[in-house]
Amino acid sequence: MGKDVIVACDFASKEETLKFLDRFPAGEKPFVKIGMELFYAEGPEIVRELKKRGHKIFLDLKLHDIPNTVEKAMRVLSRLDVDMTNLHAAGTVKMMEGALRGLTREDGSRPLLIAVTQLTSTDQERLEKEILIEKPINEVVMSYAKSAKTAGLDGVVCSPLEAGVVHEGVDKGFLTVTPGVRFEESDKGDQSRVTTPARAKELGSDYIVVGRPITQAADPLEAYRRCVREFVD
Ligand code: C5P
Repeated sequence: MGKDVIVACDFASKEETLKFLDRFPAGEKPFVKIGMELFYAEGPEIVRELKKRGHKIFLDLKLHDIPNTVEKAMRVLSRLDVDMTNLHAAGTVKMMEGALRGLTREDGSRPLLIAVTQLTSTDQERLEKEILIEKPINEVVMSYAKSAKTAGLDGVVCSPLEAGVVHEGVDKGFLTVTPGVRFEESDKGDQSRVTTPARAKELGSDYIVVGRPITQAADPLEAYRRCVREFVD
């Protein structure tokens, strides 16, 4: 898989999701992200339905538990045939290794496995006062990214602004999957550090994850195509 735009389908139901995806012509099947809200509402069936319709899927469930539990959960998810899924690097290298084992099917194939380093909602103050990590957040992100690499994962979720540092500090081929993307003129919403799709491309992101700038656009299809033009073409 190469550079691509992943559309975050942050909808509450299958009905809303299909209504949105039905705007795309038959030959144009965006890579989609299914997060906790939609997955918990609709269960594995929503994954099967979107796969059947020809979409690539990033299943964003951010697993974090003891290694044995995560390995077994990943084994179940491996049967869903998603293209990418994720976990929290904070679960340790042992947990990430377990996850990889669980995710690998009998024929050796598996979805891409990506680690969340620090959530973008965590700032330096919360890191120190609540999580009790007294290091600069960038150092923490890089250290977690290196742990993910050690465990054999494929990449991390990070800001496009961090993509270059991750590629330099870990490995050029280590994937950076980056939310926090906005068009020049659009509302940032609750995202604080944002970049345009074109800038994300310059910064070396491998995949951009775009939600509201596409799903809430007056013309979602055109907004998606604009992301592809700026980021991929
Ligand atoms: O609507 P918006 O473009 O902000 O959506 C971004 C998507 O990426 C959401 O589904 C959000 O949960 C996800 N995400 C994020 N920041 C992270 C990890 C995931 O914004 N660190």
